[in-house]
Amino acid sequence: MNVQLPNNLDAFWMPFTASRWFKDNPRIIGSADGIYYTTIEGHKLIDGTGGLWCCNAGHNRKPIVEAIQKQAATLDFAHNFNQGHAIAFEAANRLTAMTPEFDHIFFTNSGSEAVDTALKIALAYHQARGEGQRRILVGRQKAYHGINFGGLSVGGIGLNKGQFGTLYPDAKHMRHTHIMPDNAFSRGMPDHGAHLADDLEEICQTYGGHTVAACIVEPVSGAGGVFPPPVGYLERLREICDRHGILLIFDEVISGFGRLGTAFAYQKFGVTPDLMTVAKGITNATVPLGGVFTTGDVREAFLAGPETMPDLFHGYTYSGHPLACAAAIATIDLYRDEQIFENAAKMEQPWEDMLHSLSDLPGVIDVRNIGLVGAVQLESGEVVGARGRAAFEKLWDQGVSCRPIGDSLAMSPPLVLTEDDIHRIGEMYRAVLSD
Ligand SMILES: Cc1ncc(COP(=O)(O)O)c(C=O)c1O
Repeated sequence: MNVQLPNNLDAFWMPFTASRWFKDNPRIIGSADGIYYTTIEGHKLIDGTGGLWCCNAGHNRKPIVEAIQKQAATLDFAHNFNQGHAIAFEAANRLTAMTPEFDHIFFTNSGSEAVDTALKIALAYHQARGEGQRRILVGRQKAYHGINFGGLSVGGIGLNKGQFGTLYPDAKHMRHTHIMPDNAFSRGMPDHGAHLADDLEEICQTYGGHTVAACIVEPVSGAGGVFPPPVGYLERLREICDRHGILLIFDEVISGFGRLGTAFAYQKFGVTPDLMTVAKGITNATVPLGGVFTTGDVREAFLAGPETMPDLFHGYTYSGHPLACAAAIATIDLYRDEQIFENAAKMEQPWEDMLHSLSDLPGVIDVRNIGLVGAVQLESGEVVGARGRAAFEKLWDQGVSCRPIGDSLAMSPPLVLTEDDIHRIGEMYRAVLSD
């Protein structure tokens, strides 16, 4: 199909975009299929970031497209405030069946909304149990939990926060786990850094453990630069949370739905949180949907009030939107039928080998990977991020997209890629980084 670009590119205020730089050389995607994008000029490239860590089954997948079309023609919309529709209940049942530890899911429209919802559930949970003094929310440096008030407060990327000042006043932060040079070029989980979980214990000692409501972490930090958890780190966080009655929240917006070769990262790491946020791969990114999984225990605390009152004063017009629910069901069917998580597990080793084969290239100061996520970090020049951006441009022209995060080049390809695809990506990286 021929896609025409409008003459005026000013009206659309683009998200997280250096708009003047973008407009110098607009990269406009016209269509997508499988692991490929095609630009409106006909340049075909591998979508090396699976959308934005979200098109896990690849693009333009027929069963999902058809499910959305069918749902739109049956029930385009109905809300779920004191009324309901079948497909939202069905989607919740199907999703909780993937997670034996979680019995419930609250639907949102994005990862950011899922994070803010989880933080609010944590605060309200403690209040419902008579512990309303628990107000502190603990996050981590370099963490990305979306861009809404709560998620930004517990997030740890200064550039994202600097324009807005203090948001939630009782947010505290642990140190990040990227220990250089000790952990440089680690394959999978780095050896050093379990002790950094003790930052949570320090916060408890400083403010009183009985004032901490929740601790939120990405099991694998993604948008902050791709940092797999150090061996033993998540276990230690779980222990400290248990000791102080703190809810542990895993933000699995990126790591959920097969990215690490298991349905969810908590299953790979063997550490179960109390709440888990998801989005992105839940619908293969076709229709916006997010969610918060909760255990039965957390849910139970909300059922002690009057029966005629909402148990949580929270919800979105589109919580459980029929099109999103239809897309989610078709997506998880496709993941199962094509054994897509299994393919991610199978490709983890070739992916790791390819990435680490780039370690000897000039200017590469770290390579990190786990599941089908990876990052190659370049030595920064005078302007941090300039080399990352230049490499991104050259890789695009070669035929693969990546996500520059400062001078780290992050990758999270669709989980359906083959060893051949991995090999080709490696060749393109080698060509660009050798230059
Ligand atoms: C871990 C994590 N949480 C939350 C979000 C925010 O999701 P969204 O962009 O759908 O609001 C992201 C987005 O990349 C993320 O990586």
